[in-house]
Amino acid sequence: MMSSNRRITTTVIQEKKAEGKAITMLTAYDFSMAKFLDGVGIDMLLVGDSLGNVVLGYDSTLPVTMEDMIHHGKAVCRGAKGAMVVVDMPFMSYQVSVEQAVTNAGRIMKETGAQAVKLEGGREIADAIKKIVAAGIPVVGHLGLTPQSVHSLGGFKVQGKEEKGAQRLLDDAKMLEESGAFAVVLECVPALLAQKISQAISIPTIGIGAGVHCDGQVLVINDLLGLYPGFSPKFAKQYASLHSQVAQAVADYKREVEARVFPAAEHSFKISDEVLEKLY
Ligand code: KIV
Repeated sequence: MMSSNRRITTTVIQEKKAEGKAITMLTAYDFSMAKFLDGVGIDMLLVGDSLGNVVLGYDSTLPVTMEDMIHHGKAVCRGAKGAMVVVDMPFMSYQVSVEQAVTNAGRIMKETGAQAVKLEGGREIADAIKKIVAAGIPVVGHLGLTPQSVHSLGGFKVQGKEEKGAQRLLDDAKMLEESGAFAVVLECVPALLAQKISQAISIPTIGIGAGVHCDGQVLVINDLLGLYPGFSPKFAKQYASLHSQVAQAVADYKREVEARVFPAAEHSFKISDEVLEKLY
């Protein structure tokens, strides 16, 4: 497995945009997966609050807590030696006040060892972003379909299809850049709007369901690996179908245990007859 030794920094990410090189980002929620993705040379690992859905079994990201994000953020940081680790700020950890936003961003950085935090939203969180950045914490913005606002958005829908919404997204992207964010995730945005936004700002855009013209791409690792047999979002390409391999492996294990085929001699430890004979 290839390993990148140097740590990816905000400067490296911004240089990639300037040089027209695509940025790679994937979600990770634990040590083993972080080690894998880091070893392959993925630029950025996102400890997404999607962990609420794919790891904790909630039906939205709203119940995810600071403690959840810190717990998983620490595990990912232990596995990532070269990739930049970005940790999502969970719902209601930055919306109440700028002070609370800075305190919680600081806690995430101190307790996990991550290199950046990500916040969802545009103009309404510009002041919080400015203060977090002023505290020396790199920030990734997140526009378009922002899952923490799923109830006010009226569901998981493509954003910015109409003029007013599209203009707002473009303006918000500019505002995030002005506020000091070093990159912005665009989720579920029409490809040509994402292209326009990417051209209008100097910080990199990282797309998920936002077309090929973004400066980078991000996917939820569970979607990429095909860990679920059922529904997969339109934008999530499955590069493997691990659900069938996992199901087969577990079924084989069950059958072998029940048939007393596993563990075989090579999986077992020995004791001498001499010792055994002395036992009463
Ligand atoms: O939480 C997450 O996984 C995300 C990605 C979808 C960008 O925010």
